[in-house]
Amino acid sequence: MATHDNVPALVEETSEDRFINPGLPPHVPRRSDIDPRAAKRAERQIVAMFTISALGSILFLVAYYVIDPTLKGSIIGIGEINLFHAALGLTMAASMLGIGLGAVHWAKTLMPDEEVIEERHPQVSSAEERADVAQLLSHGWRSSQLNRRSAILGSAGGALGLFALPLVVPVLAGLGPRPREELFTTNWEPGLRLMVDPSGSPIRAADVTQGSVFHIMPEGFVGEAGHELDPETLMISKSKDQVILVRLDPSLIQSQKQLDWGVDGIVAYSKVCTHVGCPVALYEQQTHHLLCPCHQSTFDMTDDCRVIFGPAKRSLPQLPITIDDEGYIVAADGFREPIGPSFFERERPGLLMGDES
Ligand code: FES
Repeated sequence: MATHDNVPALVEETSEDRFINPGLPPHVPRRSDIDPRAAKRAERQIVAMFTISALGSILFLVAYYVIDPTLKGSIIGIGEINLFHAALGLTMAASMLGIGLGAVHWAKTLMPDEEVIEERHPQVSSAEERADVAQLLSHGWRSSQLNRRSAILGSAGGALGLFALPLVVPVLAGLGPRPREELFTTNWEPGLRLMVDPSGSPIRAADVTQGSVFHIMPEGFVGEAGHELDPETLMISKSKDQVILVRLDPSLIQSQKQLDWGVDGIVAYSKVCTHVGCPVALYEQQTHHLLCPCHQSTFDMTDDCRVIFGPAKRSLPQLPITIDDEGYIVAADGFREPIGPSFFERERPGLLMGDES
């Protein structure tokens, strides 16, 4: 072997020279392996732990639905706390701890406790080896005693099944009620005046000059009247009632419906983008295009607010308008199709649908 002058020569060592394989320590059987009463006691303890877990899961659901979320009180000198959250925390802890402790105790006391050495062997198994494995697995299944400990299997299955409920039920319940009628309706009704947002003043046809743009809300939902509404009603109204009002040169308008539903070239359209609902608020005076700032969907105001660019799939719905006795612009009807993004089951008899081009 080549060595450096001042470095002692290394002696080639074998693995046997470096350490001695101590082998496995002698196997010490557990109490439950030699004493059937100890095994029975361990089984009862495991069942008790899984039962505690199942009870914790059930009590979690009961607490979620029964206890007032704002209920406060003090327990064992901790000071005032939210009892709803405390109950959810304690029952969830029982649910998780019971399952965890039960599984660990089961493994430590009753599952097979054998040291097994598996020698390395060629990757491809022979037919005999595969038969041996099948026999080994079947032996493992028998020695695991799962077939004989049906109480543990049943309680573990029940605990695991119920364990998922505290995670799933609050998420599903928190989604709130399924939206129905509110997707089809807005607060617009025949005769409601178009009010300028945010001042809340009505608007006359003569005030809408060509090229001007007005952001509109229905009478009663903006200005002083709007301040008297509760915040939730106001928020819902803001999210679906907003309208953009523009006067176009009638000779530019390409659709008869658009002319019929407007007044002397004044047209009103929902501002809620038919892509995912952003407010469409950018009006290009020269091209008469309406632009959504979120994903650049572009609508042609001279052609029924048809989509000419971007991801939106439907025209903006038009609000039919007319003039009342005092010369103010009012709604001739509500929207005749659902406003905003598309959704399943949007088609409904009696409603006029926008194009899906
Ligand atoms: S929300 Fe208008 S383009 Fe996406």
